[in-house]
Amino acid sequence: MIYSLNVLLVVVRVSLSGAILDVNYYKKSCPEVEDIISTIVRNATVYDRQVPARILRMFFHDCFLRGCDASVLLDSTPDHKAEKDGLANLSLAGYYVIDDAKTHLEQTCPGTVSCADILAIAARDSVVRSGGPSWKVLKGRKDGRISIAEDTKYLPTFYSNTSQLIQSFSEKGLSVKDLVALSGAHTLGFSHCESFEHRLRNFSSAHDTDPTLDPQFAAELKGKCAKPNTDPNAGEYLDSSSRVFDNNYYKRVVGGKGIFESDQTLMGDYRTRWRVETFAKFEGLFFIEFARAMVRLGNVGVVENGEVRANCRFVN
Ligand code: HEM
Ligand SMILES: *[C@@H]1O[C@H](CO)[C@@H](O)[C@H](O)[C@H]1NC(C)=O
Ligand SMILES: *[C@@H]1O[C@H](CO)[C@@H](O)[C@H](O)[C@H]1NC(C)=O
Ligand SMILES: *[C@@H]1O[C@H](CO)[C@@H](O)[C@H](O)[C@H]1NC(C)=O
Ligand SMILES: *[C@@H]1O[C@H](CO)[C@@H](O)[C@H](O)[C@H]1NC(C)=O
Repeated sequence: MIYSLNVLLVVVRVSLSGAILDVNYYKKSCPEVEDIISTIVRNATVYDRQVPARILRMFFHDCFLRGCDASVLLDSTPDHKAEKDGLANLSLAGYYVIDDAKTHLEQTCPGTVSCADILAIAARDSVVRSGGPSWKVLKGRKDGRISIAEDTKYLPTFYSNTSQLIQSFSEKGLSVKDLVALSGAHTLGFSHCESFEHRLRNFSSAHDTDPTLDPQFAAELKGKCAKPNTDPNAGEYLDSSSRVFDNNYYKRVVGGKGIFESDQTLMGDYRTRWRVETFAKFEGLFFIEFARAMVRLGNVGVVENGEVRANCRFVN
């Protein structure tokens, strides 16, 4: 009940801002769209269990740069580097899953479904596949024509503090509640040492190890990220149950076991700490808030006057 009310409010807000997203956008033009995408995501996940985490992260990066316009999917050209070749692209992968969905959709309903909508639907399916909540995906986004590698410097980083994270999310129209709920996506997936090893050695003049990190956990991470000659693929799962979408991420952050400084910092600020603690206690509440926040993330900078790409890697 609360959920459907929220969807209604979101629809109203989106139409006031000009872009018309609609749950039933493809009802006549491509009624099979959601079935086709969910089948592709399911099959891809059977072959590679990292797929859901990859698609979920890809959606976040897409929406944070130029809005949810599939700019993250465009390939670089010989004289132009696209977002996917910018900094912070580590572990962005799984583009082939979106390509597969696009190929199938072009056969069934040619020229109809945007790559931005495919990604939004696939992100939802990735969460559902992993045991998380479901929600109705608003559709009708168009694909952008611009993707710039340097833009990735505007993404929040793994060493951002809470004020910076709140600022970064608010620039996208996302609230503190959205920030804490969406951070729960780190219940899935993996991180390379690069993204957290500054916390393990020579952290600051006063502390060799980040004092907000649980000491025993810090020792484990040091073992995984041995120096020198760190294996470039070395790292740690973001959560002990990293294939399962649950609220364990919050329990870990409460216990000083958030992998990124940007996760752990949420416990150090009164605006976010109580939300982390609440989600750690009540998984059902986290699920509701995550679903709502994903709908709001999917509304960021929606493009109306773009195109429907024939191939998600290239502009038409
Ligand atoms: C709050 C700011 C955020 C920061 C600073 C951040 C940073 C990062 C970093 C550094 C990684 C690991 C990259 C690597 O070393 O391989 C990562 C992974 C991941 N992030 Fe975030 N993230 C943020 C928010 C989000 C949001 C909002 C989502 C989705 C809704 C998300 C989903 C993911 C997922 C699923 C992974 C695992 C990817 C994989 O296993 O392939 N993150 N994030
Ligand atoms: C399932 O996924 C695998 C691995 O990506 C791929 O080779 C295969 O063609 C897919 N099958 C279908 C029916 O999409
Ligand atoms: C990430 O960007 C770097 C630097 O531009 C590029 O060399 C690399 O191929 C990219 N990695 C991935 C996985 O796209
Ligand atoms: C967060 O980081 C910014 C930039 O480094 C800094 O100016 C600010 O003082 C920090 N805020 C807190 C609360 O640590
Ligand atoms: C630790 O950091 C300080 C100050 O940044 C630097 O001078 C020193 O060389 C570093 N030590 C090691 C072992 O990296």
